[in-house]
Amino acid sequence: MNLSMMPYHLSPEERTTLYGNQNPNMINLAVAENVLLFEKYLKNVFGDCSNLSVSDVKYVTAATFEDLQRTAAEFLSDSYGLTGDRRLGGEDIIGVSGVSAALECLAFSICEPGDSVLLPTPCWQGFEWCLSYRPNVRLIKIPLYPAEGFELTLKAVIAAYSSTEPKPRALVLTNPHNPLSINYDPAVLRSIYEWVLNQTDMHIISDEIYFHSQVGVPRHKFVSAFAMEPYSKDRVHAAWGFAKDFGVSGFKAGFVMTRAQAVLNKIKSQRMASLSPFDSLKIFMLLGKLLKRDSGQFIRRLVPVYQKELTNQFTLAKQALDRNGIKYFGTPEAAQFFWLDLTKYLGRAPDAPVMSAKEMRFWAHPEVEDERERKLDAYIKRRAEVALLPGQTMFCPAPGWFRLCFTCEEIDKVTEAIQRLANALKALGA
Ligand SMILES: Cc1ncc(COP(=O)(O)O)c(C=O)c1O
Repeated sequence: MNLSMMPYHLSPEERTTLYGNQNPNMINLAVAENVLLFEKYLKNVFGDCSNLSVSDVKYVTAATFEDLQRTAAEFLSDSYGLTGDRRLGGEDIIGVSGVSAALECLAFSICEPGDSVLLPTPCWQGFEWCLSYRPNVRLIKIPLYPAEGFELTLKAVIAAYSSTEPKPRALVLTNPHNPLSINYDPAVLRSIYEWVLNQTDMHIISDEIYFHSQVGVPRHKFVSAFAMEPYSKDRVHAAWGFAKDFGVSGFKAGFVMTRAQAVLNKIKSQRMASLSPFDSLKIFMLLGKLLKRDSGQFIRRLVPVYQKELTNQFTLAKQALDRNGIKYFGTPEAAQFFWLDLTKYLGRAPDAPVMSAKEMRFWAHPEVEDERERKLDAYIKRRAEVALLPGQTMFCPAPGWFRLCFTCEEIDKVTEAIQRLANALKALGA
């Protein structure tokens, strides 16, 4: 394959979206999005913009920004179940343009260029662009393997830390997990926090973007970094945004959450939030229409409604996968994914036909090193007309795993895609 023709500037998810635009029959389950709330619950909320005033399209004032941060901090503290001095105040959170920007702000404020951080994999591929591209932080991956159930252990964290010189500045966690769709076991997390905070100088950055996305009654209860014991005000930081839990990914609205004065000072003094801003229109929409609606009760009532919708969608998608004997990792209990185990089909997909240069641009993911995974991905796209996200785009250390997002389309489309996928896999005869 001629890799020089690959558009490296696109993320794997953007690539599948562009591929889908050129192939209208394709169902794209590769992108992490959530359509469960908009039509039924949010269309009315965001539909009415008629009372926009000139102040809503001017630069955001400090007072409006503080109002947003205070209101969001109250909502998030309630959702996290934080009490007493663990509750977040408006001064502990900073609104920026998405969780990507929040992670970048944390990298800029905690690390110096050339520093490294530990990152368990598989994980969201965007950590690379948030942490590495501009902050110039090296990612030291902690590969978690299917044979060990992709389990994050204290032993693996210690091993990665011990073999890294100079010592890493932070451990980066995703909880709930993308793509594994689990909440980390609180006991395991506790042991990791204890070791990191007591035995090293590392910070912990917890990406909690999926934390309201809880499916049914999860096996492990989600515990936020701010509710964790032990805890360090100066070295524990988190990020959350509206993209996934409230299905408004295009708004690019997220928060840095930290009580570390030095980190807050650096973000503020270097005006990072002005460079990756939470702009006035977004604030009009999210603060005025969502966070403050019915004195804050609307969004609080929306969370259990969303969790019910999420659980229904999950159940129907799971039935379709089970009916067709498509295997996946564990039982998803949070976030929005099935982590499909298609390893038995590796090496069975036929060679792809010769492609036009135009087709080549969006057809394959150059991040996928394993030729068999690449071929299987291409086969699924061509034969089933379904796009999944191949695991090696998410730094999965073993080939054959694919992420299926079950919330990015209405259920009929998701189940149709699963049926088409099943038919295509059956044709491979494994
Ligand atoms: C774990 C994780 N963090 C961050 C992001 C990006 O969030 P945002 O769109 O708010 O920048 C994603 C998006 O897929 C994600 O899965």
